[in-house]
Amino acid sequence: LAKVEVDLASIPEGKNVIIKWRGKPVFIRHRTVHEIEEARSVDMKVLRDPQTDEDRVQKAEWLVMLGVCTHLGCVPIGESGDFGGWFCPCHGSHYDISGRIRKGPAPLNLEVPEYEFATEDQLIIG
Ligand code: FES
Repeated sequence: LAKVEVDLASIPEGKNVIIKWRGKPVFIRHRTVHEIEEARSVDMKVLRDPQTDEDRVQKAEWLVMLGVCTHLGCVPIGESGDFGGWFCPCHGSHYDISGRIRKGPAPLNLEVPEYEFATEDQLIIG
């Protein structure tokens, strides 16, 4: 399937879900207000792959990205690591609550796939 539909109404605030798209995991997080503020407060100078949070999301409360570590492709673990986001156990890469690489060997932020909001509660990936 080229596109996948996700019902966002079933994902409570502060929770992650993982769906499959084109054989890859896609992480969807319903971010809290606090997490959005944290993601937006980061100084670009500390980022290895500088990207604003606004450039990585369409709607601040919905973070959507490929669950594929940009080091060697393992699947990072949610709600872990030193930066309140994801941690890749393979070689220790830490990603923040915007999916940006903060520490460890990965060179780039977690990739954001193409997606759109068909309705308020319906996300289409692809
Ligand atoms: Fe994630 Fe190496 S594959 S740190």
